[in-house]
Amino acid sequence: MGYPQNRMRRLRSSQAVRRLVSETSLCADNFIYPLFVKSGKGIKEPIKSLTDSYYFSPDSIAAEVEQIYSLGIPAVLLFGHPSQKDDIASQSWSEDGTVQQAIKQIKQRVPQIAIITDVCLCAYTKNGHCGIIKDGKIDNDATCQSLAKVALSHAQAGADIVAPSDMMDGRVKFIRECLEENGFPDVGIMSYAAKYASSFYGPFRDAADSSPAFGDRKSYQMDTANVRQALREIELDIEEGADIVMIKPALSFLDVICKAKEKFSCPVAAYNVSGEYMMIIKAAENGVLDKNAAMMEVLYSIKRAGADIIISYFAKEAAKLLSK
Ligand code: PBG
Repeated sequence: MGYPQNRMRRLRSSQAVRRLVSETSLCADNFIYPLFVKSGKGIKEPIKSLTDSYYFSPDSIAAEVEQIYSLGIPAVLLFGHPSQKDDIASQSWSEDGTVQQAIKQIKQRVPQIAIITDVCLCAYTKNGHCGIIKDGKIDNDATCQSLAKVALSHAQAGADIVAPSDMMDGRVKFIRECLEENGFPDVGIMSYAAKYASSFYGPFRDAADSSPAFGDRKSYQMDTANVRQALREIELDIEEGADIVMIKPALSFLDVICKAKEKFSCPVAAYNVSGEYMMIIKAAENGVLDKNAAMMEVLYSIKRAGADIIISYFAKEAAKLLSK
């Protein structure tokens, strides 16, 4: 006879059947949308390096967040673009800093959305590094103390979750203790637990004006070749008090997402970073591929690998498509 017994195509025969046997579900609930806050008034200014992203001033950001929430997206991740930089990143923990002001505005207008804040120094230091420099080196423990101050200032302004992205050792513990001691035991920590020294951060660094003025970030961010080390990083962050652990970037590290999901029970987030986003945008602009189809394929791959949460510049577009 020789007819195939196992006709896999039976389960692909119609859209209804395909929906029925779909193994991975993606919805707006899974997304976090990143936003950039710039000091000033009435600002909504396109970000050149990040197509369809904008800088907002603290007074104009809440209207945008309202729209994001209305698409079903439950959280935003805030990055600051300060007017002044110095050696100690003093704007990063200032009570009336741009991010701190934005948090208050958002809390007032869209209290339902979860406000997550990036905690790092690189956009606030003149040298563009994620830490405090002493004798030409990043001083780990001095940096941790500053990061705890930043996290506390965000908590005081009303942040729900703080997200340290610096990759200093022990910073989650410093932040957790600082939050506890100052009466913010309920503020969550989403740590950038396994963050790689990646070439895919380029568009973001342009947007945040946070490129290192000298050297690179390889003495604190992870080496692409390593995966066991990523699991150790994640384990340590959980021990130190992280509630959500993040892997970043997403696409070159799907194996890390997969292993982290198998090994740990806390929520796993993945950051679909700026370079991954712009790669698709530029390819689509050049007629090389279909933007929406590529976007959904990538987002499904990150979810399928094991991410519970996806941080993406595509979040709004994807949420709109998924609601249809
Ligand atoms: C800051 C930070 C970076 C990103 C998020 N937080 C850049 C970096 O580490 O140089 C990158 C995000 C993206 O590329 O979308 N530490």
